[in-house]
Amino acid sequence: MNNVTRMLLGRQYFGAVSAGPSEAMEFMHITHELFWLLGVIYLGDYLPIWRWVDPYGCEKRMREVEKRVDDFHKRIIEEHKRARELKNKEYVKDDDYGEEMDFVDVLLSLPGEDGNPHMDDTDIKALIQDMIAAATDTSAVTNEWAMAEVIKHPRVLRKIQDELDSVVGPNRMVNESDLPHLNYLRCVVRETFRMHPAGPFLIPHESLRATTINGFYIPAKTRVFINTHGLGRNTKLWDDVESFRPERHWLADGARVEISHGADFKILPFSAGKRKCPGAPLGVTLVLMALARLFHCFDWAPQNGMRPEDINTMEVYGMTMPKAEPLMAMAKPRLADHVMF
Ligand code: HEM
Repeated sequence: MNNVTRMLLGRQYFGAVSAGPSEAMEFMHITHELFWLLGVIYLGDYLPIWRWVDPYGCEKRMREVEKRVDDFHKRIIEEHKRARELKNKEYVKDDDYGEEMDFVDVLLSLPGEDGNPHMDDTDIKALIQDMIAAATDTSAVTNEWAMAEVIKHPRVLRKIQDELDSVVGPNRMVNESDLPHLNYLRCVVRETFRMHPAGPFLIPHESLRATTINGFYIPAKTRVFINTHGLGRNTKLWDDVESFRPERHWLADGARVEISHGADFKILPFSAGKRKCPGAPLGVTLVLMALARLFHCFDWAPQNGMRPEDINTMEVYGMTMPKAEPLMAMAKPRLADHVMF
């Protein structure tokens, strides 16, 4: 979340250089509420008459959360506008503060449609919300699944750490430039996507015109869901589908393992085609980087003497597909203090 809000909004919400604690709590609260509401299967979306049957009070909660999200975005945009005005007074051109520009600065610097000098605030708010929703939960859910499967399989943890020790060594932290060389870890992420894709049915698509795919007729204007969860467990494509086995992705010639779909489309964690995830390279980097550092810096075991094989890997369906029970694990430092702090 911090990585993403720093890029989008120019600030992070948790940690030493964060926005104020009350703003951080507000941000966390509305984000959790929004994700929960996005994941609820709300019958009123399908048959309006069902809107009267709303056991969780979703409509009211959605309106309330939208108002809070809107106020929050309004504040962010106003702050950015004020900062830009100040910079304009100091005659700083957009090009000159290039690297300091965050996503909101970039949007504010773009011309709007129909000859408007600036993009509409409503469009900017929608884009911020879209990006936060698309970028944060997906990466976090993937990390949690990968951690859970690796701690459940100590053999895999040892192989990841052997690779890290040989590529990075014990005297420094992992850098982004190491990621292409961590081929076994790349297999682990690919295997995580096979078993636990963050978007189990992608985002709903609509067929623009009638078509037939693989013998199935799909009329125009049909809502189409792509079952990526089923794809990863399809026994025509994969053997031993219920086993977490990263080695299955290792290429015979040792070439770098592709983490998104690759040429064979056997997994689709980021979808494919013109609506595929535009943040895939960033998502892959966020996931690999977090996992590489967590496995390099620490040894991991389940909490309270629980056996690794007893870690529960039940899934819950939502907008993303998190673990039914949050992962609880024990971390033990494995690098010297002066390397980590
Ligand atoms: C591991 C991390 C991520 C995963 C697994 C993931 C997965 C996906 C999936 C499955 C879709 C739906 C595509 C479809 O239905 O065809 C999507 C859409 C999208 N993603 Fe990601 N994503 C990740 C990270 C990110 C990041 C970091 C960003 C932005 C910085 C991002 C921005 C978006 C946007 C804007 C869309 C909507 C695209 C559209 O509808 O045209 N994603 N993502």
